[in-house]
Amino acid sequence: MVPPSAANVKSTKIVVVGAGSVGVTTAYALLLSGLAAEIVLIDIDKNRALGEVMDMSHAAHYAQAKVRVGEYEDCAGATAVIVTAGVNQKPGQTRLDLIKTNYRVFKSIIPQIAHHAPDTILVVATNPVDVLTHAAHRLSGFPVERVIGSGTAMDTTRFRHELSKQFGVNPRNVHAVIIGEHGDSQLPVWSLASIAGMRLRDYASQKGIPYDEEAMDACSKRTKEAAYEIIQKKGKTNYGVASVLVSILEPIITNGDALVTVSRVGTYAGVEDVALSMPCKLNRNGAHQDVPLLLDESEQAALRKSAESIKEVLDSLEE
Ligand code: 2OP
Repeated sequence: MVPPSAANVKSTKIVVVGAGSVGVTTAYALLLSGLAAEIVLIDIDKNRALGEVMDMSHAAHYAQAKVRVGEYEDCAGATAVIVTAGVNQKPGQTRLDLIKTNYRVFKSIIPQIAHHAPDTILVVATNPVDVLTHAAHRLSGFPVERVIGSGTAMDTTRFRHELSKQFGVNPRNVHAVIIGEHGDSQLPVWSLASIAGMRLRDYASQKGIPYDEEAMDACSKRTKEAAYEIIQKKGKTNYGVASVLVSILEPIITNGDALVTVSRVGTYAGVEDVALSMPCKLNRNGAHQDVPLLLDESEQAALRKSAESIKEVLDSLEE
């Protein structure tokens, strides 16, 4: 991570809404990152939030940041407000199964955040994240750049981890992205995946190993199914997504212009007014889609399908 400049950190307040496991792990990861001077935790269950903050404030002793419990008024002046509130998947549920309950939660919290922090950047982590990123855009009235869903930044991280094991290189040397829905219709962009500047097929051939289609498909399948497997085993996911949220905040706080696959409202493969993930440039003003990916025909078709499946859920909400 680029060391944050003291000037940026000094003026950085980040609010985390939701003191469930994703919210508190994110607050803790943020605390240790040194990116924020003040972290505010808001939860409907005040006592639980107080307990988490008490515990974290002892860690804050080592990290030099202030952590406290807050109300929606405390969103005023926040650089970003991370929304993690809502129910999470139970074993066997899809992310889309959560929509009714979590949309209701968003209807009560997003207008309050927007009222107190009209200039902040909303970072949505609650699932189904694409549908709720769109909902947060509508409910806040914020421009699309300032409503960012964690989206497939998580899946892209998992995908790079899988490919790095497959090819025996550090995940930082793998350039490969998952785009579309943070869910079952996501897609890997194989046509642009590379290691050390070489397409995967060329890298394999230079290394003297066969390019194994089946092994590649297994990497994208494990990526898509990782959350299901973790939830089956431990009931939730938290560390991965918390780290991803900090990696989204970092270029926002430092004005870093980093390219990250995050969810944002836009037009994708001809489907208008839908939120899904594509690489976006992240900086102090939010998420910007300045260079479209050069997808091949089958990837375009899969992206369209992904956009349509998210749109279907969005349309059912508006009825
Ligand atoms: C994850 O992918 C469940 O969306 C959450 O970890």
